[in-house]
Amino acid sequence: HMDSYRVIGPLVRLFPAEFSHNLTLAALRLGLVPAQPAGDDAILATRLWGRDFANPIGLAAGFDKNAEVIDAMLGLGFGFVEIGSVTPLAQPGNPKPRLFRLAEDEAVINRLGFNNDGMERVAVRLRRRRDGRPGMLGVNLGKNKDSTDAVGDYVAGARALAEYADYLVVNVSSPNTPGLRDLQDRGALEELLGAVRAARDETVSANAPPLLVKIAPDLEHDQLADIADLATSGLVEGIMVGNTTIDRPASLKSRHRGESGGLSGKPLLEPSTAVLRKLYGLTGGKVPLVGVGGVSSGADAYAKIRAGASLVGLYSALVYQGPGLVGRIKAELSQLLRADGLAHVVDAVGLDGTLY
Ligand code: FNR
Repeated sequence: HMDSYRVIGPLVRLFPAEFSHNLTLAALRLGLVPAQPAGDDAILATRLWGRDFANPIGLAAGFDKNAEVIDAMLGLGFGFVEIGSVTPLAQPGNPKPRLFRLAEDEAVINRLGFNNDGMERVAVRLRRRRDGRPGMLGVNLGKNKDSTDAVGDYVAGARALAEYADYLVVNVSSPNTPGLRDLQDRGALEELLGAVRAARDETVSANAPPLLVKIAPDLEHDQLADIADLATSGLVEGIMVGNTTIDRPASLKSRHRGESGGLSGKPLLEPSTAVLRKLYGLTGGKVPLVGVGGVSSGADAYAKIRAGASLVGLYSALVYQGPGLVGRIKAELSQLLRADGLAHVVDAVGLDGTLY
């Protein structure tokens, strides 16, 4: 039963955060976490990029970096699961401890640094599950810490993994790989996205996955305007807003608030939704946006959608609320849509947006 997390959750949280995460992954791999009944309310069905999402709520990158528990997570009711970030070569990431729960703040700080098995092992796993459970699969690409050729790394990732992806994400916004976020600058981004597009198109001929860029919630107005420009001119098919923040809001209470790394969870909801809304305006609502950051309820997901998100991703709230969260968010979201007299979730996209 899903609410067993009321008992199991606090026990799991007695351990250091990364150990608890590995325990959770093991339980998922072993099939110890029961699936939710399939079948979503039709009001949540979303067609995007020529693909059918049964619902717009997805698992954000970082939870299943190595593509080990995709079907178990889809079984919890997510409409999509995003694996990664995956780098060309396997790498260990930063020294531990590097993952912290800020329980009083319902937040997380991580400085994992793209610990992952590398694209070859991930490709083997994706090949093996080809005919897995229905549901959309996002593949999130990163670069190796020691690489001197960032573009080459993302291109290699796209060549190895694009064929398995329902959408492809170029992650240039993790705060834990030195220099990575500089790839968000206009010139660098234009070159990078052009190269990844070309690699994708050479690798997958039919029904190629849309290309998305995942940005930081910390970007200034001018950088957002540049990215909106690139997107509306067709360099990407979508923008994901966004990654963790390097900001530390004054409201944080937890003893871990001073740890370096990216902050996620509840304190990120408002700032990341504000950036999402701004980007919706800057793109004139013409580029599909994925809202990620601090979502822990149906109302939060609805706020993202009304600000301009076509899809919504989450990670940190799972740490505090467990697997029952996904079903709860979907039920609440359906109810909120009906209360506002809307027939389909797409009718809510950008209702609170400002078009310039
Ligand atoms: C992440 N996130 C992340 N994003 C990404 O693009 N590649 C990655 O490898 C990771 N890794 C990662 C690890 C951990 C432990 C966390 C908490 C987060 C960022 C994540 O996908 C998401 O953008 C943010 O966490 C904001 O959403 P939530 O967590 O507030 O719902």
